[in-house]
This record gives sequence, C-alpha cells and structure tokens, in this order.
Amino acid sequence: MKVLIVGSGGREHAIAWKVAQSKKVDKIFCAPGNAGIAEYAECVNIGAMEFDKLAAFAKTEEIDLTIIGMDDPLVGGIVDVFEAEGLRVFGPRKNAAILEGSKAFSKDLMKKYHIPTAAYENFTDADSAMAYLEQAKCPIVLKADGLALGKGVLICNTLEEAKEGVREIMLDKKFGSAGNQMVIEEFMTGREVSVLSYVDGKTIKTMTSAQDHKRAGDGDTGLNTGGMGTFSPSPFYTKEVDEFCQKYIYQPTVDAMASEGREFKGIIFFGLMLTPDGPKVLEYNARFGDPEAQVVLPRMKNDIIEVMEACVDGTLDQIDLQFEDNAAVCVILASDGYPVKYEKGLPIRGLENFKEKDGYYVFHAGTKKDGDNIVTNGGRVLGVTAKGSDLKQARANAYDAVQWIDFDNKYYRHDIGKAIDEA
Ligand code: AMP
Ligand code: GLY
Repeated sequence: MKVLIVGSGGREHAIAWKVAQSKKVDKIFCAPGNAGIAEYAECVNIGAMEFDKLAAFAKTEEIDLTIIGMDDPLVGGIVDVFEAEGLRVFGPRKNAAILEGSKAFSKDLMKKYHIPTAAYENFTDADSAMAYLEQAKCPIVLKADGLALGKGVLICNTLEEAKEGVREIMLDKKFGSAGNQMVIEEFMTGREVSVLSYVDGKTIKTMTSAQDHKRAGDGDTGLNTGGMGTFSPSPFYTKEVDEFCQKYIYQPTVDAMASEGREFKGIIFFGLMLTPDGPKVLEYNARFGDPEAQVVLPRMKNDIIEVMEACVDGTLDQIDLQFEDNAAVCVILASDGYPVKYEKGLPIRGLENFKEKDGYYVFHAGTKKDGDNIVTNGGRVLGVTAKGSDLKQARANAYDAVQWIDFDNKYYRHDIGKAIDEA
C-alpha cells in the first residue's frame, strides 16, 4: 500500500521510520518532510495546511492511508477534507480534534464527565478574569484557549504576574486568537507523565508511558521549548497509577467524546500530573508527542499500519498492542540560543555513525539538504534516541550517541532522564 505522512518534524521522522517497517507498505510520501524523512519517503513540497492540494495529491497518487502527524492541520479540519473526498485518513475529525484545539472545551468536558483535572474557570473577557484573580490563590496557572505552539501556558507566582499574564493573553493577544478565551486553573504539583494511546471511536489502547523535559536548560531552568528530551517508560507510572487512569481517565474520555457526538479516532495524548491526590489531566493532545514519539515508537512491537487501520475501521479491540520490555531515551540536539534566536544552515557531521547500529536512532527535526551536505534548519535539529535494557543503560547509550554528531552551535541538555535516579 501507499502511505502519505503529513508533517516535517522529529515526530514525523519517527512515524515514517516505523511505517517503513510495515509489511503492508510499498511506498511512503511525506509532505513536506525533511532531510531525514527523505531516507524512507519521497518528500513532496506541499505545506501541512494546504488541505486541498494534499487531498488532490492523495487522489492522484492513489494513497491508501494518510497519517496526520501535526496538531494544526487536525484542529483545522484536514481529516474532514480528506473524508469528503473519500480518502482514508488516520486522525480525529475537526469536531474531535477540539479536544486539543480548545482548552476551555477540554476542561468543560472533564468537568461534565467527572474526569480528574485541576479546578478552573473559563473567561471570554479580561475584566472578569481580573476580578476572579482578586480572590484566587497563587501560584495560579493561565492558559490561552487555542493552539499556541506549547507556549500559551503561564504559571504565575503573584497576583501582579497573573494580571500581567491576563493582559498579555487577552488584551495584547500575545498568542493571537488563541487568547480570545482563556482558562485560569489551580496550580498542581507532582510528577508529569505523557501517555499516548490509539483510539477507534470506542476502544482505547494505551502505549507505554514517557516523560518530556520542556525547559531549555539543565535543572529545568530557562524558557519553555517544544521538548528537549524524553525517556520511556516513566518509573513513576506504576501499575496502580495505570489502573486508576484506565478506569477514571482514559476510557471515560473516549466515552465522553462519543456521548457528545464527537467520536474520536486517532491518537489521544494524555498529559498527566501525578498529584498527591491522585493522577489528574494537565492537557489533552490529539496527536503523537514530539519528542515522545521518538522514544515510544522504537519500543512498539506491532505493525503500526495494522494498528492505525484498526483505528480507522473501528476494530481496535482485535489488536494486541505490545511494547518491548526495555527502555529508550531521546536527547534533542538543538541550535544554541533556541527557543529565542539561533543560527541556521550549519553543516552536520557524523550522521553516518548511526547507520546499521541496532538500537540507536537519529530523528531529524530541523534539517535540510544543501548540496551534498545536511545542514541545520531549525531550533530543534535532531533527536538522538537509544534503547537499553533499562532506563539507566538507555540514558548512557543516548549520551554516548550524542557525541557521534557535531555541528558548530550544537546545544543539548545534560540531564535528560535524571529523574530516573530518584525512582
Ligand atoms: P500544557 O500545555 O497544558 O501541558 O502545559 C504546559 C506545562 O505547564 C505542563 O507540562 C506543566 O508543566 C505546566 N502546567 C500546566 N498546567 C498546570 C497546572 N495546573 N499546574 C501546574 N503546572 C501546570
Ligand atoms: N512533547 C509535548 C508535545 O508534543 O506536546
């Protein structure tokens, strides 16, 4: 079969690598793709938001399944456009992708269906938000309602900071129209865990757990980023935690969406906080995490196309989803200065060191071809992943492999997976 993947980051590279192993797949296209994805797929120069062009391409090339990697096209309704053309596509429709697209929607859904999450209020005007803050406890969390590249969340320690935050989000529109509405919620403490799952509308099968590191600097200092590294599984995600979440969070979310007439098919990514009062939902995403996919997919045993087709067809209950009994760590190699200002176009050396090394992977996030060279082309450049028999071994292997690659402004965190030592 022929598969089209929509997206261009490290997540889509990990998806393409996994799809390339499927017995069912003869040919992969990726739009727009990147220099690493080009190893497995023919990259097509169509943007992820050009729905009509993508659908026309899928028709002409007789694509059997299109996989949407990114949040923006999903929230924008790409799946509806493909379905209207009779094309098979993996991902939620617009009315279900709202689970990620609107934080106010997701909070109201959780409240209505008693799914554990932080206490909150939604606001559509700055005056009421300001008035609410006067009697609220700090620290407090402000969230722009819509998609904001993972940057629309402000944790405020004082009333003054919180008022400034409301001004930025609702009046200055720092995150654009994402700030037309906002959520103000209780600050929670605990370990964070990401649990990704396959969903077919009624059945949910969760994948192995992972943990991300969102801040730019060692010791969780510096600005928030798209993610500087991940490990999988999380040692804090115990059997008891899993049982609680299966019962009170995962299936209830799928059932809630179905009850609302918003049947969800695709990936639900549960961002969880393991609080002293039990696990609670921080956020939902409607796609694989980046860089969670880079540690979860290398550990997945199943043929990913069989699982995705079961989601589309509503037969996920027949799939026995399995993961290897090992661990993986991903360290992001970024351009020094990310996420603010950084140089691009620098030649990358050492990529060939990963060829035919079992259990070591280099997933491209921001790279491009420049003549015979592959050069840096973004803030997050590469995700170096290694597997190991346990988390400590995987971490040691990943940090070895980080040294195989070099470019002039290479920057990475040195403490990815440090939490493992506290488990
Ligand atoms: P989100 O995009 O909702 O996952 O938020 C981004 C990050 O902000 C999360 O990964 C948490 O580290 C933090 N965060 C979000 N909501 C809360 C909360 N209610 N309490 C504490 N931290 C939070
Ligand atoms: N790594 C977090 C995300 O993909 O949203």
